[in-house]
Amino acid sequence: MSSYIGRHAEFYDVFYADKPYTEEAAFVHRCLQQYSVGTARRLLELACGTGTHALALEKFGYEIVATDYSEDMLACARRKAAEVSSSVDFRWQDMRTLDISEGPFDVAMCLFDSIGYIETNETLMQVLRGVHHHLRPDGLFVFEFWHATPMLRSYDPVRVRRWSTPEGELVRISETELDYAKQLARVTYTIYELRRDGTYTSLKETQTNRYFLVQEMAGWLSTCGFTPVKWFAGFALDENITERTWHIVAVARKCGE
Ligand SMILES: C[S@@+](CC[C@H](N)C(=O)[O-])C[C@H]1O[C@@H](n2cnc3c(N)ncnc32)[C@H](O)[C@@H]1O
Repeated sequence: MSSYIGRHAEFYDVFYADKPYTEEAAFVHRCLQQYSVGTARRLLELACGTGTHALALEKFGYEIVATDYSEDMLACARRKAAEVSSSVDFRWQDMRTLDISEGPFDVAMCLFDSIGYIETNETLMQVLRGVHHHLRPDGLFVFEFWHATPMLRSYDPVRVRRWSTPEGELVRISETELDYAKQLARVTYTIYELRRDGTYTSLKETQTNRYFLVQEMAGWLSTCGFTPVKWFAGFALDENITERTWHIVAVARKCGE
C-alpha cells in the first residue's frame, strides 16, 4: 500500500505551489545550527515526497539522502534534482523498515506531517527506533506532526479546492472522516483534471493520517531513546502552541543506544 500514486504525484507540486518550502528549509537549518551538538552535515530525510525541502537544504551545504516509499513521488524528485544538478541521493525506503547502510547521520528529518502515515503504536515505535539506529550519538530528529487539538475541534468534513493549469483546471475534493479511538483522519481525495476541450479524467485515493498531542509524542520519543528538545508552533520561532496550531515541528535528540 502506497500513497501519492501515478498522476496524484504529478499534481503534488501544483497543490503545494504556495507552500513556503524555502523558508521552512531555512527554519530547519536554523534549528540545526542552534540545537546540534557538533556539526550537522549528513542528513537523512524520511518521506521526502517530491524533494523540495531536500533540494532547498542542500544549498546550505548538507549532504542528503532523501527517501520515500512512493516511486512516483521519487520520480518527480529526481526530475527536479536533475534540472538543478543536485547531488541529493533520492532513494526508495519505507520508513517502517528503514535500512540505509551509509550511516550514521547527524540529522534525520520527516516533514509535512508525514509521520502521521504511521497509524499504530507498534509501527510508530518501529519508525522511531529505526531513526534512532541511523543517527549518531546526540544526533537530532526534526519532524512535523498533525496536532490533535484543532483536528478534533474544527476539521473540515468536506473541502473543495481548484487550481488553474496550462491545460485547464484541477479540482480536488477532500472528504475527511475521523476515527476517534485510533486518532486517525481518513481523507478521500477525488481529483478531476478538467481540460479546455471539455474532456476530463479523475482519480481517487484515500490516505490515513494520525494526529497526536504534544505530551503523547514526548512519551513516544522517550520510549524510543530520544529527548524532546523543542516544540514549535509550525515553522515559527516565537509563537505559542494553541488550540489553532495544526502543525507542530519537533526537535528531539538521540540519547543513548
Ligand atoms: C504529505 S507528503 C509530504 C512530502 C514531503 N515531506 C513534503 O514536505 O512535501 C507525505 C509523503 O509521505 C510518504 N510516505 C507515507 N508513508 C510512508 C512510509 N511508510 N515510508 C516512506 N514514505 C512514506 C508519501 O509517499 C508522501 O510522499
